[in-house]
Amino acid sequence: MTIGILKDPNFESRVALLPEAVKTLIDLKTKIIVEKNAGLKAFATNEEYEAVGAKVVDKQKIISDSDVLLSINPVEKNRLAKMKKGQVIISVFNPLSDKDIVDYFLKSDQTAFSMDMIPRTTRGQAMDILSSMATIAGYKAVLDAAMKLPNFFPMFMTAAGTIRPAKILILGAGVAGLQAIATGRKLGGVVEIFDVRSAVKEQVESLGGRFVEVEGAKEDAAAGGYAVEQDEEFKKKQKQLIHDHASKSNVVICTAQIPSKKAPVLIEKHTVEAMKAGSVIIDLAASTGGNCELTEDGKTVVKEGVTIVGNSSYPSEMPNDASRMFGNNLVNFLKLLIDEDGELILDFEDEIVSGTCMVHGKEIMSDRLKKVHG
Ligand code: NAI
Repeated sequence: MTIGILKDPNFESRVALLPEAVKTLIDLKTKIIVEKNAGLKAFATNEEYEAVGAKVVDKQKIISDSDVLLSINPVEKNRLAKMKKGQVIISVFNPLSDKDIVDYFLKSDQTAFSMDMIPRTTRGQAMDILSSMATIAGYKAVLDAAMKLPNFFPMFMTAAGTIRPAKILILGAGVAGLQAIATGRKLGGVVEIFDVRSAVKEQVESLGGRFVEVEGAKEDAAAGGYAVEQDEEFKKKQKQLIHDHASKSNVVICTAQIPSKKAPVLIEKHTVEAMKAGSVIIDLAASTGGNCELTEDGKTVVKEGVTIVGNSSYPSEMPNDASRMFGNNLVNFLKLLIDEDGELILDFEDEIVSGTCMVHGKEIMSDRLKKVHG
């Protein structure tokens, strides 16, 4: 089979596969075609792709000749319309919150996989692009905060006096949050964390963070390691405690999310007003509404003297390793779709294949997606 790598849109610096990942797929007897300059912003040249055995061609040829098309950002609808019957497309479609894209494929003759749907199981870990990208976001969020903060992160005892360490408050100790703890601690900050899942307490403490417990959190073992919506009484109690801690912090990193829901608002305007001038909030949940009421997605704003960053594209700002991690996850997933002769197989008995498949044969394949879109 032929696998085509599309050049992502201009705002994106990552590419779905770096040459090293392409080589693994060629060793599995597949043919790879790459759109010209697809990897340039991720520091992979056309020549490097050719050196591992791929062919560099134009976009039109990728769309007409591929059995499987790869990209990170969803292909524009006008290009999708030009795809062949039976073609497979793998991208990050965000179908849990974008019903339109699901409806589009339900009327098409193509098969669509969405890499953000990889089930969070032990077997799925090696393919989990959300975890990979959240790792980058957690790391970059802390570095960004350190650059914007008018203070040091570590404690210093100098001839000019003692500098106190920065206080970092992290909301949500999932993948991004845990990486933010590790990075914040390495830079010498004092780190406190809120989460609604008690299971993360041990992980937080092993990274040197202080877990702040709010009693009465609702948990559901069936939620597959994700948080569930909390009741009003808990939300009120949690917001007050977050208010008390945020007003004494220099940096707040927001990572709290409940999949397929709007991000929980944990920091209201009056909490921002109570924070010290010069403090920094990095809201990683900006694209789903933000954990801070004053966050604006895609913008950095200063409100009440506090810098609030709503950057939703940190992984694209670290394009080489981001593409490496994305590509490794993608290769691990593609191995489930390639037989010993390098041909395409679609085994929907495999829970990872069906769980990641948005639409095949004009039907939603993922149970999770069926539940959300009915
Ligand atoms: P995750 O699902 O692994 O972690 C989220 C954590 O938030 C969980 O531990 C959950 O228990 C916790 N949580 C949920 N509700 C909470 C509440 N009310 N209070 C405290 N904690 C709560 O998610 P992951 O992968 O770490 O991603 C975190 C966020 O970062 C997401 O919003 C994701 O979309 C975003 N992200 C942003 C990027 C960027 O460039 N800005 C890139 C990648 C991810």
